Amino acid sequence: MPDRLLPLFPAHPGGRSPITCEYRCGNACAHPEPNESGNEYFGDVVKDISRRRVFKAGAVMVAAAGGFAALTGTAAAAPASKPRPAPGTDFDPVPPNKLDAVTIPDGYAQRVVIRWGDPVVPGAPKFDFTQQTAAAQAKQFGYNNDFVGLIPQDALGLDNLLVVNHEYTAEVHLFPADQYDPANPTEEQVKIAWAAHGLSVLQARRDPIHGGLEIVPSRFGRRITLDTVFEVRGPAAGSKYLKTSADPTGRKVHGTQNNCSGGVTPWGTVLSGEENIHQYFANSEKVTDPVEAARLKRYAIGTGASTRKWERFDKRWDVAQEPNEPNRFGWVVEIDPNDPHSTPIKHTALGRLKHEGSNIKITADGRVAAYTGDDERFEYIYKFVSNGRYKPGKSAHARRHNSALLDDGTLYVARFTGDSPAAEIDGTGKLPSDNEFDGTGEWIPLASGNKSFVDGLTAEEVYVFTRQAADKVAATKMDRPEDIEPNPVNGRIYAALTNNSDRGAAGKAGVDEVNPRVANKNGQILEWEEHRGDAASTKFSWRLLLVCGDPAAADTYYGGFDKTKVSPISCPDNVTFDRHGNLWISTDGNALGVNDGLFSVPVTGPERGHVKQFLSVPVGAETCGPNVTDHVVLVAVQHPGENAASSANPTSHWPDGGTAQPRPSLVSVWKKGRFGRPGRIGER
Ligand code: FEO
Ligand code: CA
Ligand code: CA
Repeated sequence: MPDRLLPLFPAHPGGRSPITCEYRCGNACAHPEPNESGNEYFGDVVKDISRRRVFKAGAVMVAAAGGFAALTGTAAAAPASKPRPAPGTDFDPVPPNKLDAVTIPDGYAQRVVIRWGDPVVPGAPKFDFTQQTAAAQAKQFGYNNDFVGLIPQDALGLDNLLVVNHEYTAEVHLFPADQYDPANPTEEQVKIAWAAHGLSVLQARRDPIHGGLEIVPSRFGRRITLDTVFEVRGPAAGSKYLKTSADPTGRKVHGTQNNCSGGVTPWGTVLSGEENIHQYFANSEKVTDPVEAARLKRYAIGTGASTRKWERFDKRWDVAQEPNEPNRFGWVVEIDPNDPHSTPIKHTALGRLKHEGSNIKITADGRVAAYTGDDERFEYIYKFVSNGRYKPGKSAHARRHNSALLDDGTLYVARFTGDSPAAEIDGTGKLPSDNEFDGTGEWIPLASGNKSFVDGLTAEEVYVFTRQAADKVAATKMDRPEDIEPNPVNGRIYAALTNNSDRGAAGKAGVDEVNPRVANKNGQILEWEEHRGDAASTKFSWRLLLVCGDPAAADTYYGGFDKTKVSPISCPDNVTFDRHGNLWISTDGNALGVNDGLFSVPVTGPERGHVKQFLSVPVGAETCGPNVTDHVVLVAVQHPGENAASSANPTSHWPDGGTAQPRPSLVSVWKKGRFGRPGRIGER
């Protein structure tokens, strides 16, 4: 299709291409934010200073026990001698660049693990870009890989199960330009897109001799697509809001969509977040009941024809005909890769929102807490805490038991309070006089089982229309909460807040200490510690680890570390940890004009805040699914070349080179060690 299509895709704020914005998030950042609630709490609602003091006293007690302050280790407390690289971060950073390549540090090697279209299920046909079919795609690696879950099957991590999300399709790149007309897709093309969504389950072997990871043919190989049947569980299973003509039970949904990030559970399954689900639906404006219309609007469910026109081939995508179908997406789903015949689950107790992903931490008394962020400007951070206790182990029995924990518990939303005077948070990013963006916070309960804590909403409504519930309890409107993950070494929780072009704009929420910059282009990294380190606590203390952007600019903060010595980082998106507890951050839509990348940053000791770029991804691509072990770094290279208007004139030829079409692919990177054997990541 010719490049005249480009004007169909509106310009947008931020560093992503118009095509990526259209197909990945349905132009979420070019539309008005759906959160129009007037719940600006900061400085108005919460002024209970004495209670905050009590909590601060609690934090000091933890510090005295050797927990909190000892770990903080800001640069101010650092010794004057030249810091040594923190364990696991000893590599030469790659410079910011615009190359059409995965660029890695000197002394490292890389290999593509699997590309879009490569076989997943035994018998998958060879990929053919010009003659793709839905039947082939349903057995092949899906499009636009995002989260990567690696589940070791032995103590050395040689044999692994690998679970990968396929977030979305960009049809103008999925098909040859002369075959695809966005105004008139064929039924087969639409079915190819359904099969290109979802997840892949694979078996992968780490090569201890040559390095890297390779896919092995396996009975575990499985594709989950928009046709796979999911069981709806938890308090909203069977809800009247989930019933459709195809599923009068409200308990059986075909498929999962826009699976962005996720997490591996302690019991060896994978949680995956259904994120920008609004864009797949059409005609929501035809629903005239004011209550129903408000619900659809709060989730920005699509109006008019959808971009992909799926509604022409299955009425479930037409909200005018199936008004409850959108309510069947926007959940955290759980996949059990250990059992290729298992029915995947939608966990309604974790609420319905644009879930970036979800990660688990075990509470002090052995229950399960799941953290999740709602990735849109001015949305919220949530936590679920189970009633039942975790059963250690990964047996089928333990997996069943632990999975069921996610169906019974309490759902909370976060409220953050700054400890500096509001006047010192002036929107420029200038640090307040106590030299930190920090404070305390609390978890506000929304519902527990059949009990609602929100006036005017039933528990069922809290779970299905969670955003509206959170609006009513003065939750804190955040700058796009993405990945949230507990640090397995220091026990603190870390969240990527990607950006928010409208922070402080007329009629929008203004700055506060946790979202301290107006028109925030570069995002921030938030760190918090639950009271007494217990994930079940309803109180916490927090601070910003990074205020991202150009280190030379006055509005950035790198954990107090010398900013002349860091790699610039912008638009943090996904986070993970290595064995040492270093935070690794991948970026989406770098606003500094260079390719996205993966960065390491120690969070304790004198190196706290020392951001170093480990790799960069090709032209137009986003760095997704980072996974860092002692032996290998995995990144999902999503949407390479998607800054081109269509597949007619590719801007990227990665990974195959020459004149090839770009293919979203998973890459493994390893250290070249002595005697040709692989070394360890971040060690010399
Ligand atoms: Fe799919 Fe929030 O990024
Ligand atoms: Ca402060
Ligand atoms: Ca993401």
